Amino acid sequence: MVKRNKKGFEHFEERIQNELLSHTIINNNKYCQWFERTPLKSQEVRHFTQQFSVFSNLFLVAQLYKMINAVDLQEMRAAKEILANEIGCIFKPKHSESDESKQQRQLNPEDEGDPGLVNTEGTIDGGTFRFRAAHFEWLLNFAKPLGLTFQDLGKREHGTKSTLFFCDELIRIYGSHDFVQAAGASFAVENWAAAGFWKQLITGLKEFKSQQVPNLPLAFFTWHDKVEAQHKEHTHDELKDLYFSDYPFDEDQFIAAGIEMLDGVGVFWDGLNQDRLAVNGRD
Ligand SMILES: [Fe+2]
Repeated sequence: MVKRNKKGFEHFEERIQNELLSHTIINNNKYCQWFERTPLKSQEVRHFTQQFSVFSNLFLVAQLYKMINAVDLQEMRAAKEILANEIGCIFKPKHSESDESKQQRQLNPEDEGDPGLVNTEGTIDGGTFRFRAAHFEWLLNFAKPLGLTFQDLGKREHGTKSTLFFCDELIRIYGSHDFVQAAGASFAVENWAAAGFWKQLITGLKEFKSQQVPNLPLAFFTWHDKVEAQHKEHTHDELKDLYFSDYPFDEDQFIAAGIEMLDGVGVFWDGLNQDRLAVNGRD
């Protein structure tokens, strides 16, 4: 096995930068670029919402596998944090309460779970569960003014071939029982999520809201954007911990899994791009 030292880590980071984070879906996501700069039509936002809801819901399956296949208790808990928060457990601040969270404590129970108000940091340990804090319910609320109901969202039957391919790749690679493969996919997904696609979606949706659907709640998107912005700061440290951990680690396998995962992400967005081009022709 390669000896892991500071120099080796620096070299590994360089490889990650050149071989993984250079992926087109991180640097040149055509669909999100179009979404950000184009006056969107209702039908386009509806189709996007439906496909995103399938990804959001089936992501839970991948996350559950990630939890089950965790290599140690710490990793299992980290996976649970994400899973339980997704289904409605609100983060409780870890340290001293901020003014924001004090304010939150005084909320009416009906307002608890509102994505415009719930914490983006903290732990699920001791956090409150609210049905309406489930991210899928936030998405339902977003979809409602678009004319979409529960029956239109979140199931495999609503997904296009490319959306389902992505969801299945998440289960296969991100949820893998192979530690290095899962870690590579996880790192790739985190970096994709932090690379700015939420911001692009928000920009497009804000414009669409102001022009066409003034009561469109965008907090599902703004909440996730906030979380990812915070998370970006931690990915370097997490990578370092992983590299110097006691588990067998193979750089090539880690990077290959990451690339394969990002290819899956790319199929999802490119599928959406093909769908909109099929309706509108080239722009
Ligand atoms: Fe989420």
